[in-house]
Amino acid sequence: MSTIRVLLIGDVVGSTGRTIFQKHINRFKKEYNIDSVIVNGENSANGGRGITPRVVTFFKHNGVDVITSGNHIWDKREIYSYLNDNNDLIRPANYPTGAPGVGYTFYECKNHTVAVINLQGRTFMRDDLDCPFRTVESLLTYIKTKAKIIIVDFHAEATSEKMGLAYFLDGQISMFVGTHTHILTADERILPNGTGYITDLGMVGSLNSMLGMKKGPIIQRFMTQMPTRFAVETEGPALMTGVWVEIDTDTGKAVDIGSVRLVDNKFKSDETSD
Ligand SMILES: [Fe+2]
Ligand SMILES: [Fe+2]
Repeated sequence: MSTIRVLLIGDVVGSTGRTIFQKHINRFKKEYNIDSVIVNGENSANGGRGITPRVVTFFKHNGVDVITSGNHIWDKREIYSYLNDNNDLIRPANYPTGAPGVGYTFYECKNHTVAVINLQGRTFMRDDLDCPFRTVESLLTYIKTKAKIIIVDFHAEATSEKMGLAYFLDGQISMFVGTHTHILTADERILPNGTGYITDLGMVGSLNSMLGMKKGPIIQRFMTQMPTRFAVETEGPALMTGVWVEIDTDTGKAVDIGSVRLVDNKFKSDETSD
């Protein structure tokens, strides 16, 4: 049986997240025998909002094949033209026609074509996007003619919406990952019809933070309901989480899966400049 192993890493937050990612990605790749890396980069620019072309180059230099995103993809204007001109960074497919970029892409891994689709949820988030179920259903009719190995990043808040879409796609795609909550879930498994699944990949950032951001202003906002300024947490320990999946290249089905969670207690804030 011929297989490929793909590592999927959750939202990389700011310069802190990028520093942690660069420090550990090569060891991860060796340790888990990884052929290909996909990362969610919606928070990877300085300040934890959006992504810039320079950050895309940083990820490519560090062996990333495709960068997915989510609701924060629009935070940096300089990425709009990059999204239109390149196919290594994708945005949720269920934004209306006319939004920059596309919601799916293809790349080659060990002579096999891999398709990656990005979608955004509507439950407890903005609810005016197109239906993610129907969007992916119609995309798949085309994508299945091009690739047997298909990976979906569903950027969504509610576990129910993630699980619902995953069951809807079970057997039609190789791997389904959730992102957006920045919390790694302990439920990775292979669904009955052969699709690998995890509710959320978690993140790369400061461990003692909230979504990679300093907790003080967020607690203040919960308590006062006043707007506060969020900033990326730079203090260690560092956290890097995600999941690897092994996919049968003949059937496109997942055959093995495991989550990864690294806590770097030696990480010091002077390693990053965010
Ligand atoms: Fe995020
Ligand atoms: Fe998000």
